Amino acid sequence: MPFSERNAHLPRPFLVVLLTILGMTDNAFSIRMPDQISNAPREVSDQPLKMAVFALGSFWRSEAVFGCLDGVVRTTAGYAGGSKTNPEYRSLGDHAESVQVEYDPRLISFRQLLEVFWSSHDSRQVFGQGPDVGSQYRSIIFTNGTEESKLAVVSKEREQLRLRSSVVTTQIQPLGIFYPAESEHQKFELKRNPFLLQLIGNLPQEELERSSLAAKLNGYAAELCPLKIQKQIDAKINDIVKKGWPVLRDV
Ligand SMILES: *[C@@H]1O[C@H](CO)[C@@H](O)[C@H](O)[C@H]1NC(C)=O
Repeated sequence: MPFSERNAHLPRPFLVVLLTILGMTDNAFSIRMPDQISNAPREVSDQPLKMAVFALGSFWRSEAVFGCLDGVVRTTAGYAGGSKTNPEYRSLGDHAESVQVEYDPRLISFRQLLEVFWSSHDSRQVFGQGPDVGSQYRSIIFTNGTEESKLAVVSKEREQLRLRSSVVTTQIQPLGIFYPAESEHQKFELKRNPFLLQLIGNLPQEELERSSLAAKLNGYAAELCPLKIQKQIDAKINDIVKKGWPVLRDV
């Protein structure tokens, strides 16, 4: 008996169950519209995460630099290092544009984050980075406790020794309050790429800000991931596009 005829005799609830099972085994059935997808990607939750804050020029770029690293769980662009309360983008007072990095210390260390910090900007440029001129773009390592500040001092000395002809301007200071920046500045690089946004299901703003996957893709969109990770993500996206499968769950 042909399949469709048999179906015609099945009780309706059974048919629904059958279709559901088919749906689970056949890609064609499980394609879901992006706006129905909740933030399913692996979010690390039940482990002690650590926080680090750095200032290294524009926070759009800084967030992208750190978001792509293995072990970094979450990134937030914001303001730190100054005294003005509730700074805003157009009036940030004496703060520096900064990035707060939440990381799993079992996967990446503060020392490794420092290496990325040094290699991702020009710590010898005075009063800005590249075309971004001003004190808000100054270079700072924020520390929390003596251990971190020791590591920061040692790494700055090493950086200075690498090239003696110019002075490393980076400041090292205890972290005060970190003020998260306005929504439009979060995951800024990713937001410039509607295709990638769609690929992860057009997450609502709040989820986008907290998503590890969005943090990674924010780095990818800016082409600031380590080469190996950039290529991994390229491959994964190409694969997805080839299959016509509209959901990226992980990178
Ligand atoms: C600073 O360090 C203390 C002690 O290790 C920790 O409890 C606290 O969460 C840290 N603060 C930040 C902002 O990382």
